[in-house]
Amino acid sequence: MKQTEFKKRRKQLMQRIGIGNIALIGSASMHTRNRDVDYPFRQDSDFYYLTGFNEPDSLAVFIPGREQGEYILFCREFDEKKALWEGAHAGLEGATQHYDADDAFPIADLDDILPSMLEAKTKVFYPIGRDPELDHSLLEWINHIRNQSRSGLIAPGELISLDHILHEMRLFKSAAELKLMRRAAEVSAAAHVKAMQSCKAGMYEYQIEAELVYHFIQCGLRAVAYPSIVAAGKNACTLHYTENTGKLKNGDLLLIDAGAECDHYAADITRTFPISGRFSEPQKILYQLVLDAQTAAIEQIQPGSSWIAPHDAAVEVITKGLVSLGLLKGRVKNLIKKEKYKPFYMHRTGHWLGMDVHDVGDYKINQEWRVLEAGMLLTVEPGLYIPADCKTVDEKWRGIGMRIEDDVLVTAKGHEILTGGVPKTIADIEALMQVN
Ligand code: GLY
Ligand code: MN
Ligand code: MN
Repeated sequence: MKQTEFKKRRKQLMQRIGIGNIALIGSASMHTRNRDVDYPFRQDSDFYYLTGFNEPDSLAVFIPGREQGEYILFCREFDEKKALWEGAHAGLEGATQHYDADDAFPIADLDDILPSMLEAKTKVFYPIGRDPELDHSLLEWINHIRNQSRSGLIAPGELISLDHILHEMRLFKSAAELKLMRRAAEVSAAAHVKAMQSCKAGMYEYQIEAELVYHFIQCGLRAVAYPSIVAAGKNACTLHYTENTGKLKNGDLLLIDAGAECDHYAADITRTFPISGRFSEPQKILYQLVLDAQTAAIEQIQPGSSWIAPHDAAVEVITKGLVSLGLLKGRVKNLIKKEKYKPFYMHRTGHWLGMDVHDVGDYKINQEWRVLEAGMLLTVEPGLYIPADCKTVDEKWRGIGMRIEDDVLVTAKGHEILTGGVPKTIADIEALMQVN
């Protein structure tokens, strides 16, 4: 992502904050795994969105209209020894030269410098309650100013959550963001194809996971957007199954929910297919029902539609289908009203997708489901999960779990599916798997 993109975002943020106010946002921190080993570092999405700065121990400050510079970055000073052991880090000079900060200060000097920046500002925007250390420091800094009120210093009067302003910006994807999301989607789709092609009875779920991750990394995408779910047979009925230790058996389905991250942007794809390469009759019937539900949901995606319209469409198709197959009994309208489908379809049909797999952005405005607009990106992921011990349904349906998930962009004219590179019709899946 080019620096100009981050600059554009900061400008937009400054406009929304307004002159006379200030915004603060902290980076993610390193976390120790054990002794000298850390967990892999993943920058805080909000912080990265505004700065493109990929280091821990940093704080970005935005002061619209400040004469000496509006964007200030507190970060680690350059340290030769650190560079030798841990590699490159920007230092103060790098922060201004390569990351366009107007000013940079050592993070160690935060307590000395920040109170003077807060002084006489009306509103402080920051992610309230996300980082207890920042919450605490901010109150200390404000008290520090208050204690000098007799010298004429004025402490800010309002603390406001930055989330709303920032997350509304993140909800609408720019061309530069879409480029990264298309790449994440393409690589993830190709990895799903490879996984389908390599699938054979006798393998273990983790071996399929290895196929996916191998392809992600081969393509330069070293982080997964979330832990990959590879669930054979009834394991697919556990929604966030990530053990991935089961053995693949002919006659079972395999559910894969996996996506790579491309420069902090996620893909989120699920496919379900028969391990043998051929669906059984009951599997075929349920699979077609989920696919029809997904098609109906995707058809609802266009500017002006309600957020909930795809979910409602999926629920209607699924409930009707379950009635016609005898898994539910009663009138469809009534069953939907009483949510009788929920033992078999218990999650929503999608979520926003972006830097976080379950991305930021409000789903309701003034307690009403929001209206879809061009530039929003969401997943569409209906499923069916028939518990193995469900005595109320015929035995042939039991222990079957499935989901089909695609990533869909709302466009000016309707929608675009970013993850169409993996087959999902019964014929296309079976054809792909017969080739091996
Ligand atoms: N992979 C998590 C989800 O589909 O929401
Ligand atoms: Mn999802
Ligand atoms: Mn998923």
